[in-house]
Amino acid sequence: MNTSNAVPEHIAIVMDGNGRWAQARGQVRINGHRRGVEVVRQVTSLCAKAGVSFLTLFAFSSENWRRPQDEVTFLKKLLATSLEKEFDRLHKNNIRLNVIGDVTPFGPHLEKNIESAKQRTDGNTGLTLTIALNYGARWEISAAAKDIAMDCVSGKLKPEDISETLVNDRLTTVSIPDPDLFIRTGGEIRLSNFLLWQLAYTELFFTDTLWPDFDETVFNEALEAFNSRQRRFGQTGEQVGKKS
Ligand code: IPE
Ligand code: IPE
Ligand code: MG
Repeated sequence: MNTSNAVPEHIAIVMDGNGRWAQARGQVRINGHRRGVEVVRQVTSLCAKAGVSFLTLFAFSSENWRRPQDEVTFLKKLLATSLEKEFDRLHKNNIRLNVIGDVTPFGPHLEKNIESAKQRTDGNTGLTLTIALNYGARWEISAAAKDIAMDCVSGKLKPEDISETLVNDRLTTVSIPDPDLFIRTGGEIRLSNFLLWQLAYTELFFTDTLWPDFDETVFNEALEAFNSRQRRFGQTGEQVGKKS
C-alpha cells in the first residue's frame, strides 16, 4: 500500500446490478431501480464530502431501450421524476447539475426542466454531477465526427485542423476533465459503451457489489485501490516517481 491519499477529481460510475438485487429478493426488477435511486443520493453526498469535483453516473444507456417495454417505461418515468425531485436538493447542496445523452425521447417537459435546472445550478461551486441519460459513447463520437465533417464542408475547418483537443471539445463532456477513477458495480467486467474516449487513461475498479448495496465501505475500497495505483500515462515508473 502507498501512503497517498489523493482524492480523484472525477469519478465515473456504471451503476449496475439493480435488477439482480431485486430478483435475489424475489422482487420485481423495478424495485432494484427504486433502491438504486436512493443510493445515487448517498453516493453523491459521499463524493461531495470527500472533495470529489466531478461525478458522472450512467443512468440509462442508448442500448437499454432493448429491454422489455414495461421495464423501459418504468425506468423512463422513474428517472424523470427522480431527477425533477432532486433539483432543489442539489441546488441547496451547492451541486452543479449536468446531463449528457440524447434526452429527447424523455419528452419536452423533462428537457425543459433539465435545461432550467442546469442554468439554475450553473453558478454553484461544489460537485458537478453529470447524469448520463440515453447516453452511448459511439453515438457521442459519431455525432462529434458529423459535426466536424459539417464544419469542414462549410469551410469553417480544414481537415488538418482536426486534433485530439478539437475532437474532445465536440464531445458531450466538454469542460469536464477525463475521469480519474471508473467504478462498475454488479460484477461485469466491461464498459458497456460508456465514455469510451474519456476513459483512455482512467483507473478502472470493478466490484461484485450490486449497485443497491453500494455503500461507504465499497466507496472507500475503490478510493484505496485508486491510491494504490501508479498512473504512468506512458512514462516509466522512475519518471513519475515510484509509489510503493
Ligand atoms: C443497472 O441495473 C440499471 C440500468 C441499466 C438502468 P440493471 O437493471 O442492469 O441490473 P442487472 O444488471 O440486470 O442486475
Ligand atoms: C450499463 O448497464 C448501463 C447502465 C448502468 C445504465 P447494463 O446492465 O445495461 O450493461 P450490459 O448490457 O450488461 O453490458
Ligand atoms: Mg445490468
